[in-house]
Amino acid sequence: MDLSSFPFLTPSPTEKLLHFSSGILWMKRDDLIHPDVSGNKWRKLKGFFREVDPSRPVLTFGGAHSNHLRAAAFALAHASIKGIAVVRGEELSPEHNTTLRYCEKMGLTMHFIPRSEYKVLREKDWKPSAIQLEEWGAASAQILPEGGAGAHALEGCREIWSELDDVPDHLLIASGTGTTVFGILAAMPQGSSTKVHVISAVKGAHQEQARITQYARQKSIDLHWEDEVHFGGFGKIPTHLKAQNTAFEKEYGFAIDSVYNAKVWAYFNRNSFKGRVLWINTGGVFTP
Ligand SMILES: Cc1ncc(COP(=O)(O)O)c(C=O)c1O
Repeated sequence: MDLSSFPFLTPSPTEKLLHFSSGILWMKRDDLIHPDVSGNKWRKLKGFFREVDPSRPVLTFGGAHSNHLRAAAFALAHASIKGIAVVRGEELSPEHNTTLRYCEKMGLTMHFIPRSEYKVLREKDWKPSAIQLEEWGAASAQILPEGGAGAHALEGCREIWSELDDVPDHLLIASGTGTTVFGILAAMPQGSSTKVHVISAVKGAHQEQARITQYARQKSIDLHWEDEVHFGGFGKIPTHLKAQNTAFEKEYGFAIDSVYNAKVWAYFNRNSFKGRVLWINTGGVFTP
């Protein structure tokens, strides 16, 4: 479908954040792409929407706090496509939190299933049985995997690199599944002079780490993988991180999300750099 009617700010702007003794920290403001589809979410969805058949429903998947579900709900509503979501946790309901309330407001039909059933769906690569599809009213649906993952997502994430006007000495980016950084690495030239710092929000993401570091090695790109071990685990927000976030917002006039980008900020502050440092702000801050 034609994407020109989608209200998204791309290319996203790159702003100077601060001067430090041996360089400058810049931020690529993917968080400004859209208030509800911020950061890497539209990057990941774009390719899917380009090829979607608007006459058929879309079936997607996510947890109760999923930024992907929120983004998909907005984009589907904007395109007037019927959206169906399978949500992890049978005990939940649309009233559970602001994310699910938002999805309901956007017209997403949600089915809440047990975690064990959700795990099987993940193992089956988001291919439900005919009975499940029938039960969810999704027999003719197009499947959008959890997190918007897939080849389309990688394509969209490549654009982050291709939108840059200047090549940074260091690139800082948060990682969950590693899709965003993989897309960036795919777009970088072989033997790029940019050192990539991946700050994993997930503790012990060994598979992702192995996949990403091996790919960087293949491309002769210097990559450092920062394991989340210093911060206590995915979604954990220790007091010192909260305090850092508050100070950041006070200083720069906008908030960074606590799960991903706060850790990039903490990483920047703990390490020394030289030259042009670029932080890709992957978004994740929403107003309820
Ligand atoms: C705000 C934000 N930043 C970063 C990420 C990590 O992206 P990826 O899973 O592509 O590594 C996510 C993942 O959903 C996210 O919501």
